[in-house]
Amino acid sequence: MIRIKTDLPGPKAKQFLDDAATYEPRSMSEQVPIVWKRAERVYIEDVDGNVFLDFTSGVMVANAGHSHPKIVQAMRSQADQVVNCYDFCNEYRPALARRLVEITPPNLDKAFILTTGAETIEAAIKLARRFTGKKEIIAFQGAFHGRTYGAMSVGGKRSGASTRGFGPFLPQVYLAPFAFCYRCVFDKTYPECKTWCLDYLDWFVETETEGDIAAVITETYQGGAGSIIPPAEWMRKLEAWCKKMQAVFILDEVQASFGRTGKLFGFEHHGVTPNLLCLGKGISSSVPVAALVGESRIMDVLTPGTMSSTHGGNAFCARVALANIDAILSEGMVENAAQVGAYMAQRFAAMQRRFEILGEARGQGLVWGLEIVHTKAGKEPAADLALQIVDRCYRRGLLMIAPIGLYGNVLRIGPPLVITQEEAATGCDILEAVLEELSASR
Ligand SMILES: Cc1ncc(COP(=O)(O)O)c(C=O)c1O
Repeated sequence: MIRIKTDLPGPKAKQFLDDAATYEPRSMSEQVPIVWKRAERVYIEDVDGNVFLDFTSGVMVANAGHSHPKIVQAMRSQADQVVNCYDFCNEYRPALARRLVEITPPNLDKAFILTTGAETIEAAIKLARRFTGKKEIIAFQGAFHGRTYGAMSVGGKRSGASTRGFGPFLPQVYLAPFAFCYRCVFDKTYPECKTWCLDYLDWFVETETEGDIAAVITETYQGGAGSIIPPAEWMRKLEAWCKKMQAVFILDEVQASFGRTGKLFGFEHHGVTPNLLCLGKGISSSVPVAALVGESRIMDVLTPGTMSSTHGGNAFCARVALANIDAILSEGMVENAAQVGAYMAQRFAAMQRRFEILGEARGQGLVWGLEIVHTKAGKEPAADLALQIVDRCYRRGLLMIAPIGLYGNVLRIGPPLVITQEEAATGCDILEAVLEELSASR
């Protein structure tokens, strides 16, 4: 249950926040001033004893809920045995690889266990280039794939505060328009446009590249750009286009996987299958684990010892990920995400009809992006209002992440997949009350 018993931030929180401001760089956090002490399922208690309802899952990580008993048990038990053994084999790394191969489509028959999502992107780019012998990569405007250089290079917001001034990026990466239908760069409307932006790829490649495409990389839905879900038709055409170009089709599901969208993997909504699949976040619901799952003809182009990572696949992380996958699958969390997600879809649709400042609510399962605008007709991004909404929700005990999106005006909502409909209703009630309050004061 939500419980706010001090001013926010509370006195103890202030001390930690002061230390953070003194000893950490400014780039560390843009979140509301909460200091987490403990978290269980969908509730977070701060250091002053205030309890918040979690609409963040960390950052789409705690899919199985915070401190799931099976995960905690796996941690306790493995901490006593062995944690790190570099790339020597341990009992759990191959078991995790096998589990990932079992739950993904049959063409994906090898899994490389790593530590972070960005690391899987780096690995995918390297493998695609080595496998095809080609260099050019097509990525998409607005994409977010992580903060390392290769991952930033295939990211699609070069002028953003987290990329500006960092160039030059990886050469021979070309950013094509994504299917962002709410703000279509071609000013077209789906479905009448028949996903014209994808057909445009041929002309794009003809004019911008040498036509030697090693890989195409895309998120299944664009997360950081504001939870933008492309039409399934767009994704299917993209898969076919990769085949035509003999390019490796890389799907980044670091965020979209492990039930987040109401299906185990986001690509199941689209009926496509990648050649390489990047996984992270919800793979463990907790500790740093990520994986690149792919076709052995691609994954095996490198010789032994040429691609590994210090912590990748350590026994502790691999065992935790296995316990997490077991919990997600055996406790119906994917189904719950679909069901509660359908309820939230109705609530957000009603809010969109009611409030002028809610331009579009889009999502799938338990990932949502709410576009905050000044007017529905003008769609002018209202980053200031979005910030105020997040702050006011926090003061009422609903935790949301700082606004995201190309213009910083999108509310990101992603509760743990174990949330009940009643808990989701409580969060939606708070959000609705805040939208009402702000709308009335305009
Ligand atoms: C789609 C996507 N890809 C990659 C990443 C990078 O993951 P990590 O922060 O674990 O490197 C993220 C992180 O937010 C993401 O959302």
